[in-house]
This record gives sequence, structure tokens and C-alpha cells, in this order.
Amino acid sequence: MIPDLTHRNCKEEWMDEPDADPRLVAKSLRYIRVINRIFRYTQATLSHLEQFSQRWKPGERISIVDLATGSADIPRAILKWANRRGFDVHVVGVDRHPIISHEALDRHHESRLTIVRADALDLPFADRSFDYVITNMFTHHLDDDAVVQLLRQMDRIARRGIVMADLERDRRAYRWISLFTLLANPMVRHDARVSVAQAFTRDEVLQLRDRAGVGYTHYHPHFAYRFVLAGEK
Ligand SMILES: C[S@@+](CC[C@H](N)C(=O)[O-])C[C@H]1O[C@@H](n2cnc3c(N)ncnc32)[C@H](O)[C@@H]1O
Repeated sequence: MIPDLTHRNCKEEWMDEPDADPRLVAKSLRYIRVINRIFRYTQATLSHLEQFSQRWKPGERISIVDLATGSADIPRAILKWANRRGFDVHVVGVDRHPIISHEALDRHHESRLTIVRADALDLPFADRSFDYVITNMFTHHLDDDAVVQLLRQMDRIARRGIVMADLERDRRAYRWISLFTLLANPMVRHDARVSVAQAFTRDEVLQLRDRAGVGYTHYHPHFAYRFVLAGEK
């Protein structure tokens, strides 16, 4: 049954629980990597970095921090893209979950990727310490006040710009995700539905943006119920 989607239904996701079963968390991360690839969610974020890169100087060192990085597959895709394009990009992936930070470390050995275990709402970074601050599929884990707090922090530590990507809340998306995860394990099935139920409409995203005071960002709809709020200062 589809829940009432006229408002955000904020509930805890199982993978966020500190004592979550590590095998199920690893399976959830594998599922997220698959959907990032086949629904081009990684590409949605990359397309905004591609636009920003038109203003990068040749040989310039670019630093990016990815908040709530999961298994860091989006940072890895960014590094591959940067490599192909000859950009000197360095990425820090931040996640607070002990199992997840391990998984990201185990899977990634690139010298230009660093994993830091920290709470994205209480970041150990100074003002303007990265060129870009990005986050993907994280904001739906938060209530509205925390999203505003996150956007303010992203703005605080970014010298140049921010990219926040997540899901759109929509009945068709809910039906589709329920079908897509029908045979998956219980954590994936639960978290996938909860993700859509606590996702956002365009108006909600714009209201949160205005509350956070990051008016230089713009809302971009992407394929498969993805949106990106992105902009440079
Ligand atoms: C759905 S996953 C998204 C992973 C990755 N960003 C992606 O798009 O593939 C959400 C991630 O948020 C992390 N997370 C949840 N609350 C967090 C917090 N307060 N600080 C840092 N990470 C957090 C979880 O550990 C998990 O890795």
C-alpha cells in the first residue's frame, strides 16, 4: 500500500542504525551502487561538475568533499572522470557509519581519495576548506531543520559551490521502487520505500534552500525521479 505522500514521512532507515547487520549494510550499499549506475544518478551529479569545470584553470588543483559518501562510488566516478579530462581533482568522502567508512576504505585505494569518519551535521572542517561540497541521497535521511543545517554547513566549508542530489517524492517513484526491490533483502526493501516517502517535492527543496540562504543554487530535475540543487557562489 502506498503511504500518504502529501508530506515527508520521516522515519529511521535500517542502514543508519549503528548496530545494523554488516552483511545487510554491504548488500544495501551494493544496491545503491547499482541504481547510481543504471539510473545515471552518478551522471546527474557529474553533469554539474562538468559545467563548473569550464571555469577551472589548466592544472588547477580542485578539492571536493562528498558528505555521507556510502561506499564512495560517486567520488570514485568523479576521479575517473577527472582523470579522463586531465583535471587534478582530490576527493574526501565523509560518512559517520563505522561499517560504511570501512567498506569505503576497503574498496578504494586511489591516492586522491581520502575517507573520513564524521557526522555530516557537525563537520570537523574549517570555513572555505574545499572548492566544492557535494552530497547524494543523504538529505532524505534528515528532517527539514537538519537539511537547512546541512545546507548552511555545505555553504560554510565551500569556497566555490555546492551540489546536493536526492530523490523526488512521487507516487510513481514509490510504486516503481517497491517493484524494483520486491525480491531484495528486507533492509533494501524497507530503506528503498522509506527513501521515497521521505524525499522531496520541488517546492519543498526550494523552501529549504531559501531558509538556508543558498540562493545561488538552482533546482534541476534529472532522469528517474532525481533532482540536483546546484550552484556556484
Ligand atoms: C543512501 S546512502 C547514500 C550513499 C552515497 N552518498 C550514494 O549516493 O551512493 C546514505 C549514507 O548516509 C550516511 N549517513 C547517514 N547519516 C549521516 C550523518 N549524520 N553523517 C554522515 N553520514 C551519514 C549513511 O551512513 C549512508 O552511507
